[in-house]
Amino acid sequence: MTVLETIQRSAEFLTRKGVESPRLNAELLLARVLSLPRMRLYLEFERPLAAAETDLMREWVKRRGLREPLQHILGGSNFCGFEFRVDSRVLVPRPETELLAEAAWQYLNSREGEPVVLDYGTGSGCLAVTLALKAPKCRVLAIDVSPDALEVARGNAQVHKVDGRISFILSDRLVAVTPGAKLDLIVGNPPYIATEEVSRLEPEVRLFDPLLALNGGIDGLDHYRFLAAEAGGWLSESGKVMLEIGDGQEIAVRELLEKQNWIVEAEIKDYNQRPRIIVACQR
Ligand SMILES: C[S@@+](CC[C@H](N)C(=O)[O-])C[C@H]1O[C@@H](n2cnc3c(N)ncnc32)[C@H](O)[C@@H]1O
Repeated sequence: MTVLETIQRSAEFLTRKGVESPRLNAELLLARVLSLPRMRLYLEFERPLAAAETDLMREWVKRRGLREPLQHILGGSNFCGFEFRVDSRVLVPRPETELLAEAAWQYLNSREGEPVVLDYGTGSGCLAVTLALKAPKCRVLAIDVSPDALEVARGNAQVHKVDGRISFILSDRLVAVTPGAKLDLIVGNPPYIATEEVSRLEPEVRLFDPLLALNGGIDGLDHYRFLAAEAGGWLSESGKVMLEIGDGQEIAVRELLEKQNWIVEAEIKDYNQRPRIIVACQR
């Protein structure tokens, strides 16, 4: 089969399996099989595939047809321009979380001295590593309750050579972090899906992201409730929290924070103009 025929057949197969953007997925997989930039495929439509290339492409398209995320098959995900290894041990980083990263590094770079930031539920380490790279004076505490996730995050920090500035801490919520740590910032994208909704998510998420990274309790707000009540004890006087929230959770999260004496300073909207990041400081 030629490159063009392979793309067409793969895209048809992925369409039947309900994959979003089937042609793009087919092209990205084939580009990786052939070790070419995707756009080069368009100059090589008539190139015949070698048997080994066809076999690998077939295997990968089959996996994608079973709704395994593209990032798991390719072994990595781009976040803020940096490459992160991801697999079934961690959440695949999402584009809206890049907005949180950007707000956080801008804030850290505006602080005097060596600010300390805690990444609550670090997963792949996408936030912790990006902040260490983009805010070179900061120190990072990256916590997660999943030892598997911490292993992935540590690996990503090593690849980006910032492991010396990040402490990886196995912690259920903040129990393993010294109270009164005087953090300048707690940043986090905690699990925020209501338990009942998890089974209704797309297969890529429901079957391949860890449940621990998704399930935010009965109403999805368990971690916000905890952070609103407790996070102040770990912050410096002028410290802030910057939290990603689920679509439609802004009123509930704002209320939780304000009831516990926080001032909501800003809400940042995602690419669909939906509020997805809440920035708050203590009264
Ligand atoms: C939605 S994922 C976010 C991962 C990563 N920060 C990102 O934005 O891609 C939430 C993370 O919180 C972690 N987590 C869940 N419950 C936790 C708990 N009780 N204490 C600490 N971390 C927890 C999960 O293991 C998961 O890695």
